[in-house]
Amino acid sequence: ETKIVSVDNHMDNSLSYQQAVDILKSGEVVAFPTETVYGLGALATDETAVQRIYDAKGRPSDNPLIVHIGRQEDVDKYALNVPEHAKALMERYWPGPLTLVFHKRPGVIAENATPGFQTVGLRMPDHPVALELLRTLDGPLAAPSANRSGKPSPTEAAHVYHDLKGRIPLIVDGGRTGVGVESTVLDMTTEPPTILRPGGLTREMIEAVIGPVHAESKTSEGEAPRAPGMKYMHYAPESPLYVIESDEAVIQRAVSSIHEDGKRVAVIGPDEYGDSGADWYFSVGARSDQQAMATNLYNAIRQCDETEADIILAVETASTGVGEAVMNRLLKAADGKRF
Ligand code: TXA
Ligand code: MG
Repeated sequence: ETKIVSVDNHMDNSLSYQQAVDILKSGEVVAFPTETVYGLGALATDETAVQRIYDAKGRPSDNPLIVHIGRQEDVDKYALNVPEHAKALMERYWPGPLTLVFHKRPGVIAENATPGFQTVGLRMPDHPVALELLRTLDGPLAAPSANRSGKPSPTEAAHVYHDLKGRIPLIVDGGRTGVGVESTVLDMTTEPPTILRPGGLTREMIEAVIGPVHAESKTSEGEAPRAPGMKYMHYAPESPLYVIESDEAVIQRAVSSIHEDGKRVAVIGPDEYGDSGADWYFSVGARSDQQAMATNLYNAIRQCDETEADIILAVETASTGVGEAVMNRLLKAADGKRF
């Protein structure tokens, strides 16, 4: 059975943390909140524990896991040749939604956490619960998002429970996450560094510290993508999802034509377009507020799955700032389809 323990600011939570740490030290997995999404953690040095992550999620075992740490000094325990500009990024943005990929120090992290990779992705999450857990554990946590593989990442404990109940022993409930999309994955082993996955920390914020970075180009046929997670169709809702232009008249026409086909439609969009005539409308905040869209997107996709909609339309946003991560996730959920 899956147990849920709540931790909040109004009580002494040390017993809850100790319970989570005891489970982790025994080689089991625990779900916990970060500032981006909930993670499913296991002691990164324990191969059997790490295997349990793949089993619980149904995750392909060729997809490396991010290793979470509680102190910047720990980077050198797991990584080799950490460049100066990486230190500048850590000083500025850690703890925060930035995963840095380094050459891996051999023999420390369990082999199956970074299967076949000579590199390791490290991140220090900016969440009091995650940091307290890491400090109490005093060890590294391998943790992917705590969803079943192919589902949107969980932004609240209820999402984790929905996906993983009966498959994991414990969920530490720290409320809703804030950033809402996963961390930015930046490969520091290339020069200039390469964004392998856009995320909660924007390209603009990275470039303000270290200058221009590369974006992972669309890999040519047959070439392995370097953030293997990016090759799987992610966040797929149960009904087909289409991205649609941010224009009220366009949305109203789309809804009408879907209705003429005798189908029902759910729309994910800003507050401003709620009167579009859709059968279900899930608002993700003001049109100008891209961070609100990031925060609310995965919950909205999950809510669409609870409806009887035949088609989902998701209103696009500009691909700048955190909008780059939002549009990356939306186009994946849509498998590239636009209405
Ligand atoms: O915000 C986040 O990053 C969340 C929270 C829980 O920290 N975690 C997360 O993990 O999103 P996951 O496993 O769902 O996504 C990790 C991504 C995958 O696309 C994976 O391929 C890539 O990071 N990745 C991890 N280690 C890598 C490495 N050594 N080289 C290249 N890509 C790596
Ligand atoms: Mg994930």
